[in-house]
Amino acid sequence: MNTLSPRSIKANLKTRTIGKKIHLFGQLDSTNSEAYRIALGGAEEGEVVVADHQLRGKGRLGRPWLSPPGVNLYVSIILRPPIAARNASLITIMAAVATAKAMKGISGLQPRIKWPNDLLINNKKVAGLLNEMKCTEDKVEFVILGIGINVNMTLTTVSEEIRSIATSLREELGYDISRVELLKTLLQEVEGEYRTFLTGEPEPILRQWEQFSQMVGKLVEMRSFHEVIRGRVKGIDSDGSLLLSNPDGSERRVIAGDVSQLEELP
Ligand code: BTN
Repeated sequence: MNTLSPRSIKANLKTRTIGKKIHLFGQLDSTNSEAYRIALGGAEEGEVVVADHQLRGKGRLGRPWLSPPGVNLYVSIILRPPIAARNASLITIMAAVATAKAMKGISGLQPRIKWPNDLLINNKKVAGLLNEMKCTEDKVEFVILGIGINVNMTLTTVSEEIRSIATSLREELGYDISRVELLKTLLQEVEGEYRTFLTGEPEPILRQWEQFSQMVGKLVEMRSFHEVIRGRVKGIDSDGSLLLSNPDGSERRVIAGDVSQLEELP
């Protein structure tokens, strides 16, 4: 089923909190912006904003997110975790794991997580995460978990530049999949991983992240706050930082940045 309706999304949805209230729009500026507005107005944890079409879909670093109507998923989930702002990076990690599991569960494809926000299939971007947060002093008031998945988009009409770096589940599978079923699975997976996150013992999330990650053991170059850092990825720390090891055996934690894999010398 490809038409999004609150009824079809809620039918047999196995969650307690996430998606109990769904705000569905034909068209919006951005689901993240709308979720932020309603969270400021008191919307509760688990309320979800979905749009069929975004006019100003937001990507990371101020980039636009391609958001044509009728084909993809644009979802923003309001969370109100009782945590300090410095512990919020792990929310991106848990959202990446939940999104990877939902895509794999519905399509059978094997997505890979590229730290921190990208999901790739066959080295092309199929989904992205944009988390926005409001804090009072050091305490998180709410987090908007923004998830965009290229589901049934065909890439024939987009520029060659985008086609070389992006894909959709349809492009990889050769047939359409149900946006409703994928959305339901996504909400269920987010609820499961978020519950684990709230226990304060993130090990199961970190281990799953490592399984979905493309990066453990790889030599990478990171650009983080005007610094270029090279190292081999050891894994992910309990606060969501990437752990890199240097040839001299020392270790480095990187909390934010853009990462690219380096060619290994034979
Ligand atoms: C990225 O990889 O740059 C992040 C893309 C995030 C896109 C999603 S679509 C739903 C939500 N609303 C937005 O405006 N952006 C996020």
